[in-house]
Amino acid sequence: MFFPQFRARRIRGNGIFRRMVSETTLSVNDLVYPMFSAFGTGIKKEISSMPGIYQQSIENIVAESKEVRDLGIPAVLLFGIPESKDSVGSDAYSDTGIIQETIRAIKKDVPGLAVITDVCMCEYTDHGHCGIIKDGDVDNDSTLELLAREALSHVQAGADMVAPSDMMDGRVGAIREKLDEHGYDAIPIMSYAVKYASGYYGPFREAAESTPQFGDRRSYQMDPANRREALREAASDIEEGADIIMVKPGLPYLDILRDLRNEFELPLAVYNVSGEYSMVKGAAERGWIDEERVVLETMIAFKRAGADIIITYHAKDIAKWLGK
Ligand code: PBG
Ligand code: ZN
Repeated sequence: MFFPQFRARRIRGNGIFRRMVSETTLSVNDLVYPMFSAFGTGIKKEISSMPGIYQQSIENIVAESKEVRDLGIPAVLLFGIPESKDSVGSDAYSDTGIIQETIRAIKKDVPGLAVITDVCMCEYTDHGHCGIIKDGDVDNDSTLELLAREALSHVQAGADMVAPSDMMDGRVGAIREKLDEHGYDAIPIMSYAVKYASGYYGPFREAAESTPQFGDRRSYQMDPANRREALREAASDIEEGADIIMVKPGLPYLDILRDLRNEFELPLAVYNVSGEYSMVKGAAERGWIDEERVVLETMIAFKRAGADIIITYHAKDIAKWLGK
């Protein structure tokens, strides 16, 4: 049936009809808010390229966590900026590391908020790579044991879920095995299964102070040109025991998100990364775009493409807009 019998505008003609036929919804329950916890006290330092996002010491992280919970956002994703870094990222798996202390503080003072931790070495290594360096490159298999120890120490400190972001082969299996060995078989793993080597992480590296001191991450993160490979990456993480799989970055990779949605039954997360946030904020500050409208449209695009969970620096604003 085509025009004039069919008129698409009939069901678009008023707000009530549009509401009735809307195919996609966005809820505060879909959101995860990332935060950067810094060693020290009294710290609240705005990331210059990410307006509204801060490196903060633990007491300020706790205060913001309460705000996040009170907005109805179910979870935060934590990154740590340790007091000192070394070649093997010792702070990452230290019981008194920055993240471990932050987890304990949030779990003690902010009930009703889930704490997810980023599991990676790059915030803790002096060379800024996501694993142990051997012969000028990140060594896969020796990094696995450290990642497993890091994940375990997060969980021992009270983390509700761990999210490995390093892109080593076999890390989901290594972490699953380590957690199970210690009786943590109920703790889910949200795997950054499909993570591209992306220029969109630029502002994050300022926030997490994790810029590689030599080379780049292309020997472990994915080539933006590759689509079929994403299915293989996701399949292997699922095989190893991932409970949630993530695509990252978000907006430039909606096709990948849809591919994964069509292929797998697991919950799917998308990471709306720092560079995506900075672009929107920068344009909005100049009055070039309507921030609320553009952000909500972007979130609906993630949901439409198949995401169940959206990790975004806009989460607090979205929660406020949805609650209006
Ligand atoms: C650490 C990590 C990165 C991000 C999340 N975890 C940076 C990177 O891999 O270089 C990026 C998040 C963002 O840009 O918001 N491996
Ligand atoms: Zn990393």
